[in-house]
Amino acid sequence: MTQTPAQHTITVLKGDGIGPEIMDAALYVLDAMQLGLQYEFADAGMTALEKVGELLPAATMDSIRKNRIAFKSPLTTPVGEGFSSINVELRKRFDLYANVRPAKSFPNTKSRFPSGVDLITVRENTEGAYIGEGQMLSEDGETAVLTQKVTRRGSERIVRYAFELARRTGRKKVTVVHKANILKSTSGLFLKTARTVAAEYPDIQCNEMIVDNCCMQLVMKPEQFDIIVTTNLFGDIISDLCAGLVGGLGLAPGANIGTDAAIFEAVHGSAPDIAGKGVANPCALLLAAAQMLDHLGMTDKAAKLREAIIATLEAKDSLTPDLGGEGNTMSFAKAIASRAV
Ligand code: NAI
Ligand code: MG
Repeated sequence: MTQTPAQHTITVLKGDGIGPEIMDAALYVLDAMQLGLQYEFADAGMTALEKVGELLPAATMDSIRKNRIAFKSPLTTPVGEGFSSINVELRKRFDLYANVRPAKSFPNTKSRFPSGVDLITVRENTEGAYIGEGQMLSEDGETAVLTQKVTRRGSERIVRYAFELARRTGRKKVTVVHKANILKSTSGLFLKTARTVAAEYPDIQCNEMIVDNCCMQLVMKPEQFDIIVTTNLFGDIISDLCAGLVGGLGLAPGANIGTDAAIFEAVHGSAPDIAGKGVANPCALLLAAAQMLDHLGMTDKAAKLREAIIATLEAKDSLTPDLGGEGNTMSFAKAIASRAV
């Protein structure tokens, strides 16, 4: 008897710049895999501003709230218009507290580590220095201040997320990255809370590392890391460092996860320099789709999609120019789809 896949409706944001091109390619692959996904298309960013005069229309917010899952292409934040960043605004409005960014070695990428790296950065997404609370410049322009707030609740839920992720995915180790030796109150509270949570997971190895040493260790011996959990600003920097280890933007996906909603996207932006040319690499968005399938409980399908991407890279089949190939967005997607079904 053939199994009918479960029906899930997801909100799809085609985005700006290369967004529509890579989203069409990604949906081509997902459709070929017959996952039973229904799409509800919604607008945000420049496209929405042009259509309805708003960067983040209420209808888009309602759609994400209802479906709880959004699959999103990059959005252009116009300079000097509304929010400082639509992405930060989305994280805030849906309390997407966990930013989950895997970094994995892939074959045939111009990377410093073509093998050996397979780690996930779990970054706290809602508090700490990064959110810029209480930013102030004195009247004479000589002194600037910023409030850095860390809470036990915020620290606990992100560390717990990291340990649960380790358990769920069979990963063995969580590294807590901090600067508690200097930032004794904020990073200190994060570390102390992390130790309490770690004690509840005796099956997962836990170690601690100071952030500057962690950066050096990542560059010299990245294979020692499995899951990294850290505060907002450190996580922002570390996750980009990790993307750089394994071949950069074209292969870096990210998930923003909260209790009531989750948004899956590529790490890169709307790439206006290559928009409309049909040559953007769809891999980062497809790897985000694999994270989304994991989140929806379709772990076999997620694994199949990742294997298809790896096999296509290995075969150098229709790769886009950023990977040194002569293919285009759609031919690359078709090559992946043929291996994913
Ligand atoms: P970008 O990531 O769009 O581009 C940086 C460089 O990487 C460019 O040379 C681009 O051609 C290349 N690139 C990016 N993605 C690629 C892909 N899939 N295939 C091949 N090459 C690729 O960063 P940039 O130029 O700083 O930002 C452009 C716009 O994107 C801005 O408006 C920014 O606000 C927005 N942005 C949106 C993000 C999101 O929606 N999550 C994240 C980052 C930026
Ligand atoms: Mg960043």
